[in-house]
Amino acid sequence: MHVYINNRLIPESKAKVSVFDHGFLYGDGIYETMRAYEGVVFMLDEHIRRLYRSASLIQLAIPKGAAEIKSAIHKTLKANSLKNAYIRITVSRGSGKIGLDPALCEKPTFIIITNEFKDYPASFYKKGVRLIISSVKRNLKEAINPQIKSLNFLNNILAKIEAKKKKAYEALMLNSQGHLTEGTICNVFFVLKKKNKSVLCTPSLDCGILDGITRNIVLELAKKHGITTKESKFKKEDIYRASEVFITNTTMEIMPVCKVDSVSYQVGSVTKLLHEAYKENVRAYLAKVG
Ligand code: PDD
Repeated sequence: MHVYINNRLIPESKAKVSVFDHGFLYGDGIYETMRAYEGVVFMLDEHIRRLYRSASLIQLAIPKGAAEIKSAIHKTLKANSLKNAYIRITVSRGSGKIGLDPALCEKPTFIIITNEFKDYPASFYKKGVRLIISSVKRNLKEAINPQIKSLNFLNNILAKIEAKKKKAYEALMLNSQGHLTEGTICNVFFVLKKKNKSVLCTPSLDCGILDGITRNIVLELAKKHGITTKESKFKKEDIYRASEVFITNTTMEIMPVCKVDSVSYQVGSVTKLLHEAYKENVRAYLAKVG
């Protein structure tokens, strides 16, 4: 595999950044994860838009325009003969003397890593995955806004460590007010039955979450299929009384959940319907853009 580093494609074994890179020293930088299906990068414009938004929230000027970034992604995919791929863009503050001041770094480091996309085990989709509600709280949005997809991922890593210790696949975090936010790398949805009608619930953006691109698609698809949606502040007790739970992100799409803490769930009809609709939406995107 070749890695794109600052305008050059470098063999993976030689792909290195400086120990003085502020991404390494301070987690000062941002990233985006994308997925390519059959050579088409799904929702590329939206991911690039979010990359620029993250950059602007940390006052980092990406030294490339959107067209240049797109062409660099396609060049990297081509160099690695990849069609179904995992793609990660990382932009760090760059290399500079030790110290927090971004002005110490002359220019950002721009990296694209690609890999063959490896499907998640089929059993995850068939049976669902286990989650815990973590004792680690999500970063306060007034401190490090979760809308910044930053290289500083310790908050999420601490929650992931707890999940692993408890033999769970993912951890959901609450915010400082005890409201549900999101997983370590995903958004969360659950179905509450109201007078026999299904309401698809997900924490609202003001709870302090990343506005996932998959989350937005799921909300649109639900509305299109006549499913009532509710973006709001929820407590963990709300998810405990749900009939279905699933998590979403760019790589997993819609992943059913079979357990949150000690509460079990079936892979239900809303989850199945939305995942089928999601896959259809990907196919339509490929037909339009590809
Ligand atoms: N993670 N919330 C968090 C904290 C995330 O890191 C992600 C994405 C999401 C879902 O966003 P989207 O639907 O746009 O992928 C929500 C990516 C996949 C990652 O960390 O690699």
